[in-house]
Amino acid sequence: MTARRRLLWLFPLFLLGLLAFWLVARSFVPSDRSLSGVVTMNGQPVAGARVRVQTTDPFAVTDNHGRFHLVESANSKGKRLTAWKDGFFIAGTAVNASPLALSLAPLPEHDSPDYEWVDPAPQRGGLHNCAHCHSEMYREWTDSAHSRSASGRHFRNLYEGTDWNGEHEKRWSLLDQRPDGAAVCSSCHAPAIPTGDPALFDLREVKGVAAKGVHCDYCHKIADVGDGNLGLTHGRFNLNLLRPEKAKDGEEQRQIFFGPLDDVDRGEDAFSPLYKQSRYCASCHEGVVFGVPVYTTYSEWLASPAKKKGTQCQDCHMKPTGEMTNFALGAGGHERAAKTLSNHRFVDGSLKDMLQRSVRTTAKLEAGNDTVRVTVSVTAEGVGHRVPTGFVDRHLLLVVEGLTARGETCLPREGPRLPDFAGETFAGKGGVVYAKLLKNEEGRSPAPFWSADVTPRDNRLWPEEPDQTAFVFPSFVDRVRVRVIYRRFWAETVRLKQWPNADAVIVDQVYQR
Ligand code: HEC
Ligand code: HEC
Ligand code: HEC
Ligand code: HEC
Ligand code: HEC
Repeated sequence: MTARRRLLWLFPLFLLGLLAFWLVARSFVPSDRSLSGVVTMNGQPVAGARVRVQTTDPFAVTDNHGRFHLVESANSKGKRLTAWKDGFFIAGTAVNASPLALSLAPLPEHDSPDYEWVDPAPQRGGLHNCAHCHSEMYREWTDSAHSRSASGRHFRNLYEGTDWNGEHEKRWSLLDQRPDGAAVCSSCHAPAIPTGDPALFDLREVKGVAAKGVHCDYCHKIADVGDGNLGLTHGRFNLNLLRPEKAKDGEEQRQIFFGPLDDVDRGEDAFSPLYKQSRYCASCHEGVVFGVPVYTTYSEWLASPAKKKGTQCQDCHMKPTGEMTNFALGAGGHERAAKTLSNHRFVDGSLKDMLQRSVRTTAKLEAGNDTVRVTVSVTAEGVGHRVPTGFVDRHLLLVVEGLTARGETCLPREGPRLPDFAGETFAGKGGVVYAKLLKNEEGRSPAPFWSADVTPRDNRLWPEEPDQTAFVFPSFVDRVRVRVIYRRFWAETVRLKQWPNADAVIVDQVYQR
């Protein structure tokens, strides 16, 4: 045999070897293959449904025949395939099911007002109590203002006319001064009170889950925003809920939870894009009450640079903490990217942290003949509305003091001084109050919003717009101390109500010449 002939014999053997190698190697290296299937409802194909492998990003949309083709990636093994379309619960099936058929169940057509709210807190024998499975979110929400919106001590003191020790204090008291207006407060502060319940008109009567204020079950039953006039149609009256029918005796309560995920196929969840939009928050965070623009956060956001960039309330206020990767740990939850799971404290860190990150000051000192001219600038950055925003009494004090070489403080000769209502610690010092300032019929400021004029003087900061103030100090001043203090309530209210002092120092800085 010539050498050439021998090689010819070896060639088929070589090919066989190659084939064997490929077969073995293929079982180790995962391959991408196409997942094809159909989405139906009652046996009829559904077009426009969104299909994805649970917890992964890529998705396909079904065609007119309800069919989809999705590239299955290496990490799909053992996972579920989910499908969702507006008006339906999210459906699911195993990725390796054959054939791949997903059947959508429609959401109920009507809201059921007799549904009983689920308590978020753990409860023995409770079936749906959120804390049983969403313990991390429950902790965050418990720390948030939403959990205290009907019961918070400051709120109740102003609402019912009491002080910190429970004594009657009627100079800042809604029930004493405007009793006929009490029902307005419940629409945002206790939105889950049933219609016809006397607590609507007197929150001292509030019982059960409604007493937990803006709670999990309420927020996750919001299906849509109504078409009421934002600001004038308050809270519950502009939020369209979709509650399941109340369970009959002996039956298990069926559920509906709306949320930001379209791949939760427990048979009770539905996706809604609204959950990532500012509009979701608007009905409660915009409110003209008794003609007074008490809450204007949403309209401030509409006019803000953040809105132009597409930044929503949730992007800043529910920004992922980065620590949670499973929001139903040990209760059927899946590992998910931390950056996709939201924070239910509704603040990034604390409100003080947020204020400290967003308020910036500068001061320029210029020597004159026998004076020092100081220009102080205050800017709000990285915020989606005016600062401060929210409840009408929130305000900032800018306090500017001259310092001598020996460290003594010195008042400005020219420039604005803080008014009496800044409270005794600061009244008379150089500075500015940034506030929405209301006055009562006698022209006295500040005043409770339920007995105030309808056109407040409003000089709060606009995002990214520096506010400058000039002061003149004697020439022996060579440094200035600039402070910014945040207050939730007016000094007068804190004194009358005997509340603990809660001044938050946002900036405290010394500038040199
Ligand atoms: C028995 C456990 C359990 C209880 C109780 C429970 N959940 Fe869940 N929930 C889950 C699991 C599991 C998921 C899906 C987790 C995943 O896919 O990673 C989920 C998902 C969700 C979603 C996401 C829906 C979406 O499509 O975006 C929301 C919202 C939700 N739950 C709200 C609630 C609320 C509100 C309560 C209390 C009224 C509650 N859950 C009670 C286990 C539970
Ligand atoms: C059903 C009404 C309602 C909805 C919806 C709502 N809020 Fe609120 N929110 C309130 C009420 C009432 C308070 C005041 C609670 C208190 O201090 O008494 C509040 C307080 C807050 C606070 C103050 C937090 C603090 O620590 O001081 C923030 C921030 C906030 N909400 C953000 C949001 C965002 C963002 C959304 C939308 C994702 C939203 N809220 C949706 C009613 C609502
Ligand atoms: C003020 C309304 C509000 C309250 C109260 C609220 N949520 Fe949410 N929740 C939202 C919004 C809005 C999102 C979507 C945020 C986003 O994706 O940016 C969300 C997202 C979720 C998700 C989806 C997973 C994730 O991390 O985004 C779950 C689960 C959830 N909430 C459960 C709960 C539970 C449990 C409670 C109570 C302990 C609760 N929510 C209280 C409004 C609320
Ligand atoms: C770009 C980020 C950003 C966006 C967007 C944003 N906020 Fe804020 N928010 C902040 C910062 C920073 C603070 C702290 C400074 C302040 O109080 O104004 C804050 C404070 C608040 C407060 C607390 C006010 C107080 O003193 O009690 C509320 C309520 C609030 N925001 C609601 C909202 C709502 C509702 C939206 C959407 C309409 C929204 N925010 C959009 C960053 C943002
Ligand atoms: C349009 C919805 C809405 C209505 C109506 C409403 N509130 Fe509020 N209220 C809010 C929101 C949102 C906040 C939180 C803003 C913030 O934290 O700055 C709040 C905060 C407050 C606070 C501050 C609580 C604290 O601890 O800091 C008081 C007090 C208050 N409201 C009283 C009332 C009273 C009294 C009424 C009825 C006359 C009323 N509110 C009606 C939405 C509303």
